[in-house]
Amino acid sequence: MSTKDLIDIYAVPGKVAVITGSSRGLGYDMAEALLLGGAARVYISSRKVDACAKAVSQLNAIAKEKNLPGKAYSIPADVSTKAGADALRAAFDKVNKEEGLEPRADIVIANAGATWAEEIEKFPDSAFAKVMDLNVRGVFFTVVAFLDLLRKAGTPEDPARVIITGSVAGLTGLMPNGFAYNASKAGVHQLGKQLAVDLGPQHISVNILAPGFFPSKMTAGFLSGGVGDHMAETNPLKRLGLRSDIIGVTLFLTSKASAYVNGVVLPLDGGSHVGAPKI
Ligand SMILES: NC(=O)c1ccc[n+]([C@@H]2O[C@H](COP(=O)([O-])OP(=O)(O)OC[C@H]3O[C@@H](n4cnc5c(N)ncnc54)[C@H](OP(=O)(O)O)[C@@H]3O)[C@@H](O)[C@H]2O)c1
Repeated sequence: MSTKDLIDIYAVPGKVAVITGSSRGLGYDMAEALLLGGAARVYISSRKVDACAKAVSQLNAIAKEKNLPGKAYSIPADVSTKAGADALRAAFDKVNKEEGLEPRADIVIANAGATWAEEIEKFPDSAFAKVMDLNVRGVFFTVVAFLDLLRKAGTPEDPARVIITGSVAGLTGLMPNGFAYNASKAGVHQLGKQLAVDLGPQHISVNILAPGFFPSKMTAGFLSGGVGDHMAETNPLKRLGLRSDIIGVTLFLTSKASAYVNGVVLPLDGGSHVGAPKI
């Protein structure tokens, strides 16, 4: 194997990817990673039409500036229900038809997620349902909505990829008052393992990324007032997550490098899951 062969193992040339929750935060970084890795198409999705359009325009500017072969497309949808996941697929089909593109999906990243923290006796029923719907139910129906294309894309040597964004909160329960969030992430880890076993024979692998704390809109409130510094200080690697951490692991989980990895929950947290600090 040459150095070029080795580099190619970590690239995703010509791949087509759909990423939910990619208008900002971790999902946006994943989209950028795939374009940098040579993907042909990356479909950006979230509820807000304007936010998707802005992300697409930023990503396409990066692709132009760096002379990358790929392009980003916008397919907004609320993926917290089956109807929403079906609407995501309909938006995908519509864009492909308009642009004259072959409907293909080699990679589906079910990343959209929501959180809620409230004292135990005040925790709203509606918030519990909202978190479970998006973080578990929506993940399942997003995968189902693209199954036909994933089945066509996978081969024994290079399966189609489903990546689910879980959380270390599903491993350690370290999000204070995050009853629904912690339960949803533990649940979606198990959902991912079930899908890995069921879809593996169809040449589709399913892996779950479990990030620790990364600065984003979702974590901004929690990490404010010195909590972020405390989380960094008490992390075994003495810092929070970086964009480059997301970019590296995204390319690992979607490239040939991980062709035989299936059903894992991969913590990306500097080792905090091994012994979570008290907050
Ligand atoms: N940041 C962290 O430290 C961390 C740690 C562990 C796990 N995670 C997980 O990583 C994922 C991304 O988190 P993040 O930190 O990047 O959060 P974020 O910055 O809040 O981004 C969330 C994304 O999801 C979209 N979204 C929210 N509700 C949606 C819905 N119902 N349907 C479709 N899209 C929706 C948002 O856009 P719209 O508002 O336009 O819909 C946005 O694009 C989540 O699953 C989260 O649980 C994050």
